[in-house]
Amino acid sequence: MTRQILVTSALPYANGSIHLGHLVEYIQTDIWVRFQKMLPKEKVAECWYVCADDTHGTPIMLRAEKEGISPEQLIDRVWHEHKRDFDGFHIGFDNYYSTNSPENREFSSQIYLKLHEAGLIEQRTIEQFYDPDKAMFLPDRFIKGTCPKCKASDQYGDSCEACGATYAPTDLIDPYSAVSGAKPVRKESEHYFFALGKCEAFLKDWTRSGTLQAEAANKMDEWFTAGLSDWDISRDAPYFGFEIPGAPGKYFYVWLDAPVGYMASFKKLCVDRGLDFDAFWGKDSKAELYHFIGKDILYFHALFWPAMLEFSGQRTPSGVFAHGFLTVNGQKMSKSRGTFITAESYLNHLNPEWLRYYYAAKLNGSMEDIDLNLEDFSARVNSDLVGKFINIASRSAGFIAKRFGGKLGQVPAGQELLARMQQAAGSIAELYEAREYGRALREVMALADLANQYVDSNKPWEIAKQEGREAELHEVCTVALNAFRLLTLYLKPVLPKLAENVEAFLNIAPLAWADADGLLNGHAINEYKHLMTRIDPKQLEAMIEDNKQTLLPSPASGGVPVPGMKGRGEGEHSQARHAQHQQQAATPSPQTPPPLAGEGLISIEDFSKVDLRIAKIVNAEQVEGAEKLLKLTLDIGSATRTVFAGIKSAYQPEELIGRLTVMVANLAPRKMKFGLSEGMVLAGSDERGGPFLLSPDSGALPGMRVK
Ligand code: MSP
Ligand code: ZN
Repeated sequence: MTRQILVTSALPYANGSIHLGHLVEYIQTDIWVRFQKMLPKEKVAECWYVCADDTHGTPIMLRAEKEGISPEQLIDRVWHEHKRDFDGFHIGFDNYYSTNSPENREFSSQIYLKLHEAGLIEQRTIEQFYDPDKAMFLPDRFIKGTCPKCKASDQYGDSCEACGATYAPTDLIDPYSAVSGAKPVRKESEHYFFALGKCEAFLKDWTRSGTLQAEAANKMDEWFTAGLSDWDISRDAPYFGFEIPGAPGKYFYVWLDAPVGYMASFKKLCVDRGLDFDAFWGKDSKAELYHFIGKDILYFHALFWPAMLEFSGQRTPSGVFAHGFLTVNGQKMSKSRGTFITAESYLNHLNPEWLRYYYAAKLNGSMEDIDLNLEDFSARVNSDLVGKFINIASRSAGFIAKRFGGKLGQVPAGQELLARMQQAAGSIAELYEAREYGRALREVMALADLANQYVDSNKPWEIAKQEGREAELHEVCTVALNAFRLLTLYLKPVLPKLAENVEAFLNIAPLAWADADGLLNGHAINEYKHLMTRIDPKQLEAMIEDNKQTLLPSPASGGVPVPGMKGRGEGEHSQARHAQHQQQAATPSPQTPPPLAGEGLISIEDFSKVDLRIAKIVNAEQVEGAEKLLKLTLDIGSATRTVFAGIKSAYQPEELIGRLTVMVANLAPRKMKFGLSEGMVLAGSDERGGPFLLSPDSGALPGMRVK
């Protein structure tokens, strides 16, 4: 049966720039789609790839306000920036749309009304924090205060970065609005809930129907065991989004209309290209629908979204493919280290296909995180792409031009190398299909090794110098360029632009998968021009420099999230929290400058009560079950102390052992879930990065007083 396939990537938020973390997903998806599009029509009749900007929600509204423009102006500008970045990385969307579209409003309303009819929408009054100055309800992430557990100040409304506790914003001590600084009041309002609990039987079936990766299905089981709670799908005005039909002043929560944006983007494509929408979205459609997402948003795609579709009478996804998160040099991307690299700055310094190749070489079908190690990146690209692949063409093309009038000779019947390379088409295709790109590329590079061995052992540069060996030289170069053509074909989903240049050089039509069956004989080719350069470490350094952001607080950032922040931490009253905890990008921390006068000041006497000491970390270990904590054993000269520190996100225990830092040595011991914590270590952090553990200059000794 011939397949019809619709593919999506998650819709990036319109309040930040595209960065290399995002690109894991768009590159992963694009490779898969390009591969499908290369298959013969009898196998895959159609494959479409749609996406859009995710434009609604409080952070976007506040950001536009801060910039003094309308949300529509903001999202229009960002759409163009995102589109430019995606084009730069050759992400071949068939349509790139916006969730703020008439199609999306229409579909979202229809789905909501169907869910309502099905008795799955409930209304309840809830109490939330409200900013009386701004006259708006505050999402959890826009409320800060003192942690109810460990009393650390300036913690977010949903969790404490110091002790790892999670709680409701109403549990915070001395809460304040991160938007205006005002003391929030509690206020009631009516909310609309999607009764997810009633969808459990369906979701269990759907989970078991082979739509999810094994790890994702396990995660689902955990969620089922914890119990599915209702999902709050409404937000009060002021909110940038779609008003709920029949509920003036109430808006769809951004995550309600975001996945519907997949449908809306595809609908627009259908109208533009005269495609049959229902062939893909009709209830009984046999078309395949796949969503590529990051593991942090699995909850939304594996619970809410299929339930919304099923109970509004629509088809459900055929598969949800979750990938892991990107680290750079083994660590979370960091603005201060310059590893929070934007797509734009990458493109200013480096070739996009280098990154496509590197990501592909590291990707598989699982949810494992992937690391961009910059040294490994240049080593891998230089050795595989330039050293192995391009090398084959550059060593044989010149002779064809100079000695044979630009015309290939004949490949001898049964030529072994080429036969072997042609036979690999099937297994490489299977690996692409299964998203096992790393394994696919290892197979391709093993073939490139064989091709290089062929050239090395036949030594065309020597034959060329000997008289009467013209025919042999012609044959060797013809075989080598045929090998190069096959390698190009197998790499084409990953390196589309390079493949296009090779097609021009070889003077052939765009390569499709079935072309692996054929060979070039007696074919006229064009002049060889250099196809790809090596990565120069200087380019990498320059890019990192570009992305380094100063650690000085910027006066303009008060109250409004910075680019690149996650807009999803908007205050869920549901278990979407599960998903939020896996967030990796910097979390927003609207900065309030320290006071210079008035309330909040402390005296020197007060300060001198704090006993700060130089401490040597003599042991550091993971804490089983703790998301953010490491257990540190500190030597302060006269004593050793055990401290649980919320620094796991940035440090490996091994790298800490032996290092000096600064601790608060006279803090009252605190009983935590994992044991007794006898003090605190000091580290800097906010939305631009961190935690950064303090260290004294060299020469300091454990136990010295810090004053
Ligand atoms: N707007 C939501 C998605 C709505 S889909 C109906 C969102 N946007 S996002 O901009 O935060 O992320 C877009 C995609 O990029 C998500 O799938 C997310 O997992 C992925 N990534 C964002 N940062 C990432 C890394 N550091 N590493 C890998 N993928 C990352 O979530
Ligand atoms: Zn705490």
